[in-house]
Amino acid sequence: CKLVVLLSGSGSNLQAFIDACNNKTLPNTIISAVISNKADAFGLVRAQQAGIPTACIDHKKFASRHEFDTALQNQIDSYNADLIILAGFMRILTPEFVRHYLGRLINIHPSLLPKYPGLNTHQRALDAGDSEAGATVHFVTEELDGGPAIIQAKIPIFNGDDTATLSARVLSKEHTIYPLAAQWFAEGRLSLQNSKAVLDDKE
Ligand code: GRF
Repeated sequence: CKLVVLLSGSGSNLQAFIDACNNKTLPNTIISAVISNKADAFGLVRAQQAGIPTACIDHKKFASRHEFDTALQNQIDSYNADLIILAGFMRILTPEFVRHYLGRLINIHPSLLPKYPGLNTHQRALDAGDSEAGATVHFVTEELDGGPAIIQAKIPIFNGDDTATLSARVLSKEHTIYPLAAQWFAEGRLSLQNSKAVLDDKE
């Protein structure tokens, strides 16, 4: 299974995929390329250190979202990817782009969706006095952070938690569930059917 990872920042989730490929928890899977819209994303350094091809497509150089997404799509498709992994990719994608990859484009979001789509999820969970937080891997659809959930991880919120402590604990769960979702896809057990994420129990 060939993965292409899109990111804009630190790339700790990318690192989890690199590690999972290296220690064979993601068997028969390769990361064909990592693409960033930001030249200074540390995720690009992680990729280079792992010997993975990288590309940077700077959204600021394009006149419209559509033109950026077209360039991005051409770049992705040059790798013949089976699955596109959004790992902290901080651009909203056009409906055309999302439709092109429907069923093979997944994202991880740092909340227990459908709670808190969008930004500042940990602050919002703290402000609401929630007792738990978490992360959700989901298929990407045209609705922002609204596609069908594949897997969620929950953690308790403790007294005295702030966004730093909370995001660190959620992130460490992300690093487990995101490669696992990709593993299911690579095994042919996970698909998007009639707007639902379907996981086949049989291995
Ligand atoms: C994570 O919080 C993820 O849930 C969100 O973006 C962040 C990416 O972190 N979509 P990293 O770049 O993988 O460290």
